Amino acid sequence: MGIFSSSTREIPSAPEVPGHIAVIMDGNGRWAKKRFLPRVAGHVKGVELVRELVRACLERGVGYLTLFAFSSENWRRPLEEVSLLMQLFVKALEQEVERLQRHGVRLRVIGDLSRFEPRLQTLIRQAEEATATNTALHLSIAANYGGRWDILQAANRLAVAEPEKIGQWTEADLEPYLSMAFAPEPDLYIRTGGEMRVSNFLLWQMAYTEFYFTPTLWPEFDRVEFDRAIASYQQRERRFGRTSEQLKEPSSHA
Ligand code: IPE
Ligand code: IPE
Ligand code: MG
Repeated sequence: MGIFSSSTREIPSAPEVPGHIAVIMDGNGRWAKKRFLPRVAGHVKGVELVRELVRACLERGVGYLTLFAFSSENWRRPLEEVSLLMQLFVKALEQEVERLQRHGVRLRVIGDLSRFEPRLQTLIRQAEEATATNTALHLSIAANYGGRWDILQAANRLAVAEPEKIGQWTEADLEPYLSMAFAPEPDLYIRTGGEMRVSNFLLWQMAYTEFYFTPTLWPEFDRVEFDRAIASYQQRERRFGRTSEQLKEPSSHA
């Protein structure tokens, strides 16, 4: 059993302020293009907005923030853009760890890190170790992450660990091997940039997550926009399969 309840096996609590927010930070390229700037300028601006979002989450008491920074499909981009994104990642790790430390933020990077160059892998490991005892906010960066990869790597690790149970595995058996096993399932899932798709982010974990799609480009997703997303979330009725009437009865069974 995991430490957090599963939305398909129990009825989880639906917190007033989302305990875990997942974000697809999309629209950096279009933001730059609108300004006749190179795409990378949009990514640079995007990093600033990450800083702001982390601050907002700390203030609002959001416990977990998971950001999609680079998908397993983003390698298909022009080599130059990929390499600039990697440089930005390195720079952010070098510059931000101290600030995260000051604010009690624990950093994790989820995804298949084996494809990154050794220097980046080392920086990631160091940043994770340096912040490992922080608890104010769990910040996870999804890099070379894909939801399908995640489920598969979990299944493969489970197969090695418990071969005698093949054919009888349960959700609860698999969950500890998923890369977000340390976190509750996301309550709110934000995608900026106007696309209404999931692009292979956290597939397993979002079984009952509330979605918020906004046309706002990521570099313009400021605190006001963030509060709008939270307000939208607070309007939702999270039924987890039950009827609306059941929610109003305090005795509604699980
Ligand atoms: C998201 O912005 C950032 C990454 C994928 C790294 P995009 O770069 O996808 O921006 P658009 O979608 O082209 O505007
Ligand atoms: C999703 O954005 C990945 C990240 C934000 C890191 P993309 O811009 O790569 O998504 P698609 O290709 O439009 O679906
Ligand atoms: Mg995009």
